[in-house]
Amino acid sequence: MARKFFVGGNWKCNGTTEEVKKIVATLNDGQVPSADIVEVVVSPPYIFLPVVQSLLKPDFHVAAQNCWVKKGGAFTGEVSAEMLVNLGIPWVILGHSERRALLNESNEFVGDKVAYALSQGLKVIACVGETLEQRESGSTLEVVAAQTKAIADRVTSWENIVVAYEPVWAIGTGKVASPAQAQEVHNELRKWLHANVSPDVASTTRIIYGGSVSGANCKELAGNPDVDGFLVGGASLKPEFIDIIKAAEVEKKA
Ligand code: PGA
Repeated sequence: MARKFFVGGNWKCNGTTEEVKKIVATLNDGQVPSADIVEVVVSPPYIFLPVVQSLLKPDFHVAAQNCWVKKGGAFTGEVSAEMLVNLGIPWVILGHSERRALLNESNEFVGDKVAYALSQGLKVIACVGETLEQRESGSTLEVVAAQTKAIADRVTSWENIVVAYEPVWAIGTGKVASPAQAQEVHNELRKWLHANVSPDVASTTRIIYGGSVSGANCKELAGNPDVDGFLVGGASLKPEFIDIIKAAEVEKKA
């Protein structure tokens, strides 16, 4: 079952109007594989979503970096899924580790957000991943399974979910997971989906890797059979993001 390579760019809390316009221009000019080969989604801060969406070439799409857990209303400072839909924003990133850690978003809360966003018609990049302490204590698989289960318990379809495996120790640290480490967790996550959701969901759901992905390491990571793309932070603000998109053409190892 072919899973289309997916490359997300998470711009986090970065940029000015001038800077985001420059990034978009670089993206629009980049020579990249066609949209049948790779799906590209960039995620600027909320406030720049409309300008980025209006300037980006139609092959590329945008994602919000978060949205509220339920219908909008008296929730100061939040942005609802309905508002994103109203603006024609197709995607949202949920469960990023920076929010899980700094804002205490629990597995259950993230699961609720994923379910609500899907119910409103958004597509979701759902992030999971272990801390260094959890990896060193041997609980990586248990942690990512619990994070995935909290989503699985609340959704009825996985059609509009991309799972991003992002080990916390690899995010923004320059310490990328080795291709073998990434492949191992992606394969285990796929087995978890097979056993706990369905064989079809396991074979069709894209599991992308995030954490210090760069132009230099993306090809080797992309060669792994269970690595279906990337969620890129720092490097998504730079011209090397084009090289990362090109990793969609790397042949998979058997
Ligand atoms: P990084 O961030 O590529 O800067 O490590 C990845 C992410 O947080 O999505």
